[in-house]
Amino acid sequence: MSANLSVAAYIGATILFILSLGGLSNPETSRRGNLYGIVGMTLAVLATVFGPRVTLAGIPWIVGAMVVGGSIGLYAAKKVQMTQMPELVALMHSLVGLAACLVGFASYIDTSIVFSGAEKAIHELEIYVGIYIGAVTFSGSIIAFGKLSGKIGGKPMLLPARHWLNLAGALIVIYCAYAFVQAETMSAGMALLLVMTLIGLLFGIHMVMAIGGADMPVVVSMLNSYSGWAAAATGFMLSNDLLIVVGALVGSSGAILSYIMCRAMNRNFISVIAGGFGTGGGTVVKQADGEPAGEVTAISAPETAELLREARNVIIVPGYGMAVAQAQHTVYEITQLLREKGVNVRFGIHPVAGRMPGHMNVLLAEAKVPYDIVMEMDELNEDFPATDVSIVIGANDIVNPAAEDDPASPIAGMPVLQVWKAKTSIVMKRSMASGYAGVDNPLFYKENNRMLFGDAKKMLDEVLAALKA
Ligand code: TAP
Repeated sequence: MSANLSVAAYIGATILFILSLGGLSNPETSRRGNLYGIVGMTLAVLATVFGPRVTLAGIPWIVGAMVVGGSIGLYAAKKVQMTQMPELVALMHSLVGLAACLVGFASYIDTSIVFSGAEKAIHELEIYVGIYIGAVTFSGSIIAFGKLSGKIGGKPMLLPARHWLNLAGALIVIYCAYAFVQAETMSAGMALLLVMTLIGLLFGIHMVMAIGGADMPVVVSMLNSYSGWAAAATGFMLSNDLLIVVGALVGSSGAILSYIMCRAMNRNFISVIAGGFGTGGGTVVKQADGEPAGEVTAISAPETAELLREARNVIIVPGYGMAVAQAQHTVYEITQLLREKGVNVRFGIHPVAGRMPGHMNVLLAEAKVPYDIVMEMDELNEDFPATDVSIVIGANDIVNPAAEDDPASPIAGMPVLQVWKAKTSIVMKRSMASGYAGVDNPLFYKENNRMLFGDAKKMLDEVLAALKA
């Protein structure tokens, strides 16, 4: 492929990626957005593999690597459960970080292109920054994977003097950068690179370990952003314009998402990154012990069906438990039945419901719930007082009134769906266990609240059967 054709293909791929991001911002256009992304990526890969910078002898190596990587990716994507998606995404971010590190080291030891003067300094700084971002992304994403999959506890690990540790790490990294650019020999430069990589890895671990359970959504989107910047840095090292543009697109959209998440959770971005925010400066977060802290009133599936049948306005609030139970299809069957009876049914979506941005929207779209009855938290919160029944399906933290009432709560200040303001609220979950943030939920003990205990899918099947009877 000629250089001109390759540039044209890169521009075409860039446009497709921008269209893809635009499409993905709305559920109705997201399929098209995905398609643009697939076509763009195919074009980008073909233009790179058959582009002017790859020799004929290199093609079998690239194709071989693509077959191995593609097969692992295909296997993982087919095998992964919808509930494990956030962990898979975290693992993929870690691979982008690892790739940036490896490309950085390879670029440094590659002596086929000799740089001199300012060009050499710029090239070395690209390598240095690329490896650093890659190391932070790699280790941070591995810890995020551990936290999301429950292999590492959700409680923030707050080391004493942690901000000083971070500052000391940052100063060493800056000093090493200065020394690296001045380094006379490759071995001296390599030693400095290794010191910086180690600090980057430790910083990634420390940063994510210090973040409390409820703040994990911000970390997920932030690591998404880092993986973009790591890819952009790789693009600079390889002088690949497309990688720079695409990395910057992913990096900036991840940064915007982090900002949106922080706003939705009423968190300050810097405080989240600094770690431990909302834990009252290190108070131990109360963990789920399965023991109720008050009286709860249980309800049966037929009684739930009865309440729904008599209701005029119903709001359904889905959470992580709906994803675990895969209850979205039954939820929609119940919705259809109630709508046929003239009940106004709407869905309330909290920005951090589930375990990844848009988690609930994806599930409801899969079950073909019409978009016009799926509302954001802000659009719906003031409607609860005029609602007969609010049903919480496998959600917990996002409907916790302690966020509003208890300033000492680890989730204090986070806006929540005010389901308790409905005439009756029904919470569907299996036990009294707490949610991801590990905080007790006073909603369960409210007078107008009922608990429908059991697996969400099983209980909803029973509600559906009772409604049909
Ligand atoms: P959670 O607060 O985690 O609550 C989910 C509830 O679902 C649990 O209390 C659990 O109670 C119940 N559950 C689990 N399996 C169930 C099943 N099969 N049937 C019925 N219920 C089941 O979820 P949420 O309300 O969606 O809030 C999300 C939380 O995750 C927030 O703290 C958020 O910060 C955090 N988080 C979000 C993200 C993103 S980006 N969305 C990423 C990381 C973390 P039982 O065990 O008693 O059934």
